[in-house]
Amino acid sequence: MNLPSSFLVLFFLFIFTAESADPAFSSCNGGTIAEPANIDNLLDKLVPGTIQNGFIATSYGEGKDQIFGLAQCRGDVSKNDCSSCIQDAATNIRKLCPNQADARIWYDYCFLRYDNVKFFGQADTSGGYLYNIQNVTDPDVFNKKLAALMNQISSEAVKPANKGLGKGKSDISEFLRLYALVQCTRDLSERSCGQCLATAIGNFPNFCNNKRGCRVLYSSCYVRYELYPFFFPLEAQESLDHSSGNYKSVKT
Ligand SMILES: *[C@@H]1O[C@H](CO)[C@@H](O)[C@H](O)[C@H]1NC(C)=O
Repeated sequence: MNLPSSFLVLFFLFIFTAESADPAFSSCNGGTIAEPANIDNLLDKLVPGTIQNGFIATSYGEGKDQIFGLAQCRGDVSKNDCSSCIQDAATNIRKLCPNQADARIWYDYCFLRYDNVKFFGQADTSGGYLYNIQNVTDPDVFNKKLAALMNQISSEAVKPANKGLGKGKSDISEFLRLYALVQCTRDLSERSCGQCLATAIGNFPNFCNNKRGCRVLYSSCYVRYELYPFFFPLEAQESLDHSSGNYKSVKT
């Protein structure tokens, strides 16, 4: 290997590692937890549970020391990707929110949260969003197709058999294909899942207006669309034109 190409490999390795280990967002809102060891014990249940089933909602401890935790991977990612994501989440949340209740951490492939208050089943739309700074060239056509696709995959996501996940694609033109994925946390009812997704999609004009790609990461649901394949199984790309581009993140 000559020098320039080994630099290139190092460069991509660095980007890849940085991307897989950095959360999109985190937040710590609560007071301190009296029994910090309970957080570790809870995480010891959350991590294997998520790897095994893609989702877990459980608790650790008793009475006022009880902590409730929820963790979930994106439904389309492999067990390996889920495993490394949720392990990073468990490690990093302890660093970012030392001994704090109401701690949350968002990645593209997974989400983890714990609190000393039971929060299961409640649609929670706090989180943040990331958008591609590039605009689409034909907003009218694009927004119509986007709305139709979001509608279709949201109605898939609320069906219990789909475990909160909906994904699909739609051709915008002969050359452009839209890819989208939505997912609710699996503790939500059909109705609450629908509400969370409707709020995220309803906020597109505020967060994602005419953007080529956008992600809404809420505590109870995830919404993403792109003009390139991003969900698994990955579709072969016909060209490299659909690069992921520059993203900006905003915590709400
Ligand atoms: C996208 O459109 C917005 C609103 O019209 C504009 O402010 C922004 O500069 C555009 N971004 C790019 C990268 O052209």
